[in-house]
Parts: sequence; C-alpha cells; structure tokens
Amino acid sequence: MLDSSTSADLVTILRALLAGLSPGDRLPSSRELIARHHVSPVTVARAIAQLAAEGAVVTRPGSGTYVATPRTRSGEGPADTAWQTIALTDRAVDTRSITDEFGPPPAGTIMLDGGYLHRSLQPTRALSAALARAARRPDAWGRAPTNGLAALRAVFAGMAGGGVTPEDVMVTAGGQSSLSMVFRAVAGPGSPVLVESPTYPGALAAARAAGLRPVPVPMDDDGVRPDLLADAFAMTGARLFYCQPTFHNPTGTVLAPPRRRQVLDVARAAGAFVIEDDFARHLGHGGPVARPLVADDRDGTVVHVASLTKPAAPSLRIGALVARGPVLERLRALRWVDDFFVSRPLQEAALELVSSPAWDRHVRGLAAVLRDRHAELASALARELPGWIQARPARGGLHLWVRLPAGTDDTTVARAARQAGVAVSAGSRYFAAEPPEACLRLGFAAAADRAELVEAARRLATI
Ligand SMILES: Cc1ncc(COP(=O)(O)O)c(C=O)c1O
Repeated sequence: MLDSSTSADLVTILRALLAGLSPGDRLPSSRELIARHHVSPVTVARAIAQLAAEGAVVTRPGSGTYVATPRTRSGEGPADTAWQTIALTDRAVDTRSITDEFGPPPAGTIMLDGGYLHRSLQPTRALSAALARAARRPDAWGRAPTNGLAALRAVFAGMAGGGVTPEDVMVTAGGQSSLSMVFRAVAGPGSPVLVESPTYPGALAAARAAGLRPVPVPMDDDGVRPDLLADAFAMTGARLFYCQPTFHNPTGTVLAPPRRRQVLDVARAAGAFVIEDDFARHLGHGGPVARPLVADDRDGTVVHVASLTKPAAPSLRIGALVARGPVLERLRALRWVDDFFVSRPLQEAALELVSSPAWDRHVRGLAAVLRDRHAELASALARELPGWIQARPARGGLHLWVRLPAGTDDTTVARAARQAGVAVSAGSRYFAAEPPEACLRLGFAAAADRAELVEAARRLATI
C-alpha cells in the first residue's frame, strides 16, 4: 500500500489507529506493520520512535508496543508554570504568520503552501554523496573559522558576482538565521524597517522579534516603487529596507533594471542599508537571472543574503551574508557571541555539493521542472477558476500569487481549501499592515508532481 512510504506516512496511519484504541492496548507487531504497509523495518522503527517521543506509545522490549497512559506527575497533576508569565514579561515572539494556522494537514492533502522543493526534486543522491565525502575529511569535526570555510566563501562571492570578494562573505546557517542576525545587528528595538508590500512573513516575524517595526512600501509589476520608497524613508527616518529584488516571495516579481540603481540611490541618500534577500537566485525558470544588487553596490549599502536551502533541501542549512565595512564587523561579532561558527561538516558538505558537476546539472534541470510546473498550475487555475486573477507570470521562484474576487476573505478561502484537500497560504500574512486586497499564494514545488497541481485546481474550484 505504501510504495514510496516514509516513517511520516506511517506515523499518520498509526495515529489514526491509536485514536480507536485505549491506554494499554497493544499495537500490531513490527512484523505485522511491515507486511501490512509494505514498509521497511527502519521505517517502522522510526515511526514507533517518534510516537514514543511524543508520549503516545510505550515500547516494552521483547513484549511489544502499547498505547501510553496519559502522563501526570505521580499524582501531583500538571506542573504549575503560571509564574513564568510574570518572569517572561511581554516580550512574546510572534510566529503566527509563519506557522500553519490550520494545524497538521490530513493525509492526502495536496501541499501548495510549502516553501521548499518536494523530496523528489531535491538532489538527494548528490547531497548524500557530498555529506559522506565531507565526513571523511580528517578535520571535518574540528572548529571552523567564524567567517566560514574560505573555499565556501569564495563560492558565495562568485554567486554574488561584481566586485564581491571572499573577504566580504560570512557563512551562515541559512536565510532565516541571516535575516534574524541582520535585523539585530543593524537596528535597535523600536526602529522602523521598510519592507516591500507584500513580503516574506518570515522576515516580518524576524524583524518583529528583534523589536523592529515593519513599514510597508507598495510594489507594482516592476517591483518596489522607488518614489514611494524615498517618501517612506523621509517619513519614518528608517535606516533599513528589506527587499527581494529577484523572484520575490510571494509575487515572483523581478525588480526592473532601471529601478535597481534607483533603489540603491534612494537608500544611499537616506543613509540606510538595503537588505537584499537573494533566496531565489537558483530558482529561475530558464531565462537570464538579473545580477544581485550587491554586485553593483559601491559603498557598502547592501547587505546581501544568500541561501542553499531552496535549490537543494531544507536541511542543508547553509547560507551567506555579504557585507562591507563596519556592518560586516558587527555581523561577525554577532556570529561569535551567538554560536562561534556554523557546523563544519555541513559547510564541508555544502562545498562538496556546489563544487560537484551534479550541482550544475541539478540547477539546470530544476529550472525546466519549475517552468513546467508553473505553467501547469497557471493554466489549470485559469481553466477551473477564471475569477482568480493571476499576477504577471513569474520568471522564477516557487509560487503563484493570485487575487481573489472582490469581497472574498482570504483566510476563509484558505480554510475551505484545506477542507477540500489543498493547503494554500492566505495572502494577508504577507502584509505588514492592512492587506489592500484578498490574495492567495499557491506553491507549485512542494506538490508531488504535475498531476497533483491539476487535481489541486479541480479541488479548489469546488469550494
Ligand atoms: C524570501 C525568503 N527568504 C528567506 C527564507 C529562509 O529560508 P532558509 O532559512 O531555509 O534559507 C525563505 C524561506 O521560505 C524565504 O521565502
């Protein structure tokens, strides 16, 4: 039954089974589970270990696996942690915009809300080989330089292009960690940060967690509007603008060539930094990809964020910050006090991966797959839901951005979509303030295949 099964699939099945059992009941044996679900012993062991870690089952070696009795502390009842509310004061970290508002999706849900590649699109074999080679290096488990491995910094400098040198690069643990670090490094609590509207909710969450106040600046089909950016700097006194000039999440927009220089000039005139989130450099759909802003930055205005998680796999948590001048010194200092350096085996593995011929092949093949999937979903939606207005076709990235008919509530539509078996992202979470219209973000890379995209559009049309 479960040909391409994983332990996650089996956990879902076992959870359903547990719902009909009572504490102390015995689960089917490992042998029975293997036979019944056509899975390997490792898959069964992993699924049981996960349920045991959650406290849902207990394993008794030599006897079997049993439904656990709900835990209490030997008659004391649950611990009274109310005092912590006072001790922690009001510094809550708000993750609502980046966590799943409807809870875990039931089995069979088509995932159009993911921000990473489906397993089948990840370069799994090349990653495994890279990790194995990295682990064999004699100094693999030693310290790494605070800035990161020199050879890896050279790779990221090459990706940024222009006059960027390895000395301008600091290796990080992926894009999200870079954003948190830059927001903390560059502006103090209470400061405004200008953001494109809409923008990536993870950036909003990281900025807010650093105590910053995101202020939206409108975009059009050519990216952020430089005239309004200048107004926003003048009005708020902000020293920071966060943007994604290339294959913007969620709209897929590319900042038009004449605006690239204008954005840099406007920020320079305001004495402000531009955080360029270049997360999608390797997610083009086959056409030319614009140079990053940092390649044409002459005076340290741009702090550039790169990451390998999107074109590779979410757990290749390796990225880079590119910066020049005192801001780089501050970022290095933060790296030092936060965690000394990024895990060396992972840096070595990333270096092995991007230096291998398989990497170029993977990125080229990925472009064609993303282009086809984008076209498939766009035409399925146009056929099934002609009232949903699609943004200008994206030339890169993982998402389609659609405007819903006037008077529609995006969260209600997202909830109904979930009930119909499709996970989508409500557009309101991408806005720093009131959304000007109801939108949805639909991802085409996290679904299993193109047939799922067509089926998703069909299901969405039923809601
Ligand atoms: C625009 C953007 N930036 C940064 C990130 C962070 O990605 P990661 O931390 O996996 O590199 C994401 C992830 O969804 C993103 O969409």
